[in-house]
Amino acid sequence: MDPQIYGLAFFFLLVVPSVTALPHKTTSSSSQPQINSNSVLVALLDSHYTELAELVEKALLLQTLEEAVGRHNITIFAPKNEALERELDPEFKRFLLEPGNLKSLQTLLMFHILPSRIGSRNWPDEKSGSRKHNTLWNDFVHLSSKSTKRLIGSAEIFRPDDITRPDGVIHGIERLLVPRSVQEDFNRRRNLRSISAVLPQGAPEVDPRTHRLKKPAAPVPAGAPPILPIYDAMAPGPSLAPAPAPGPGGAHRHFNGERQVKDFIHTLLHYGGYNEMADILVNLTSLATEMGRLVSEGYVLTVLAPNDEAMAKLTTDQLSEPGAPEQIIYYHIIPEYQTEESMYNSVRRFGKVKYDTLRLPHKVTAQEADGSVKFGTSDGSAYLFDPDIYTDGRISVQGIDGVLFPEEETPTVKKPAAVKVVTKPRRGKLMEVACRMLGAVGQDSHFTTCQ
Ligand SMILES: *[C@@H]1O[C@H](CO)[C@@H](O)[C@H](O)[C@H]1NC(C)=O
Ligand SMILES: *[C@@H]1O[C@H](CO)[C@@H](O)[C@H](O)[C@H]1NC(C)=O
Repeated sequence: MDPQIYGLAFFFLLVVPSVTALPHKTTSSSSQPQINSNSVLVALLDSHYTELAELVEKALLLQTLEEAVGRHNITIFAPKNEALERELDPEFKRFLLEPGNLKSLQTLLMFHILPSRIGSRNWPDEKSGSRKHNTLWNDFVHLSSKSTKRLIGSAEIFRPDDITRPDGVIHGIERLLVPRSVQEDFNRRRNLRSISAVLPQGAPEVDPRTHRLKKPAAPVPAGAPPILPIYDAMAPGPSLAPAPAPGPGGAHRHFNGERQVKDFIHTLLHYGGYNEMADILVNLTSLATEMGRLVSEGYVLTVLAPNDEAMAKLTTDQLSEPGAPEQIIYYHIIPEYQTEESMYNSVRRFGKVKYDTLRLPHKVTAQEADGSVKFGTSDGSAYLFDPDIYTDGRISVQGIDGVLFPEEETPTVKKPAAVKVVTKPRRGKLMEVACRMLGAVGQDSHFTTCQ
C-alpha cells in the first residue's frame, strides 16, 4: 500500500473513535479543515516514535492537534521510544496514565509542540544564546546550540528535521521534557502518599469526652493527614435529603475538596456504567457535599463504586429503611487512600484484609480471588471490576460488580416470588424508592430530581 494512504487509514482508525468519545466537540467537525494525508500529524502517528504517538492518542489530543495544524505549522519534539519506556521513572509513567491525571498528560504533551515551524536551519546558533518559544501549552521552551549540538532546554536534538511535511516538522529528542507544573502535580501526589503512610508525630491530645482537641492543633505540614479520626469530622447522623437548598442569592458554599469530588463524579459519568452511583452521591443524598468537606479537611477516601448492573439488583426491601441509601454508600467508602495496586498487594501478602468503612463499626473484607480483589463474603461479594477509575491522591474510585452489605446484615435470600422483577427503570431503583419516600413525607419541594 502507498505509505501515505496507509498513513491516512491509520490516522482515521485512531482519530474517529477519539472524536466520537467527545460528543460535545463533534458539532464543529463539519467546519473543520480537512486533515491532509501529507500532514505532520499523520506522519507522527505512522512514525517510529510509537510511544509518543500512543500517548497522544491516550491523551485524546488528536482533535486539538488537528485544529492546530489547520491554523498554523507546528514543530513537534518527539522523545525517542526508549525515553518513554526504560528511561522513564515507572512511578511517573503510572501517574501520567491514570485517568484522573489526563490534564497532566495533555499538558506534558502540548509542551513538546510549538505553534510554528522551526527547522534546524532556524535554530539560534551558539553566539546568539538561547531563544524563547511558546509551546502549545501556556508555557515556553528555550532553544539553543552548543557547538554542533542543538538543544531544547537541556535535551539534545538527536535527529533534527527527522520528518518534514508541508504543515510541520518533527525533531527527535533524547529525552522527555517535563514542564514544571506537571512535575509539581506529580510531587504533590507522591508526597501525599508518603506522608499518609507516616503517623503524625507529637499529635495533640484528643479529649475523650468531647472528641475535640484539648489544645489547638499545632500547624501540621500541608498535606498531612488530620489528627481527629474521620468519624469525628463526619456530619452528625445521616439524613435522606439532597444537599441543603442554596441560601439567599443561590450561593453555594465553596471549598477545595468540592473541586475534587466534582472531578471524580465527572470522571465516573464519563467512564460509563456508574450513573446510579453518581446520581445517588449528587442528587439523592448530600454525600458528595459531605465527601468534599472531608477531603477539604485533609481526609482521604476510597470509594468502592457498585456499577449500574449491581445497583439494579437491589430490592425495595433493602432500600426502604430510612437512611438506607446513605448507609449503603457509607459501607462502600473506606477512609484510606487505596489503589488497585495497593489493595492487590495487600491481599496477595496477607490473604484477607479488613478495611474500615464510614459505616461504623462495620469493616469490609478483601481477599485475593482469580487474580483480582474480591470484597465481602461469599453471599454478598463483589469483584474489583474497573480498577482506578479515578485516583488523585486523596480520592480513589474503584468500580465493583456488586453491592456490599455488612456481614451480619447480608440479606437473606428471598423467595423468588417476593422479589419483583422490574425492567430497568428510567432512573435507578434507589432514586425511585427515595422519591416515593420523600413524596410521602411531603419533602419533594426541594427535590427537583423526583418527577
Ligand atoms: C506552513 O508553512 C508553509 C511554508 O513553510 C506554508 O506554505 C503553509 O501555508 C503553512 N501552513 C499553515 C496552515 O499556515
Ligand atoms: C442529577 O439529576 C439531574 C436532573 O435529573 C440529572 O440531569 C443529572 O445528570 C443528575 N446527576 C448525576 C450525577 O447523575
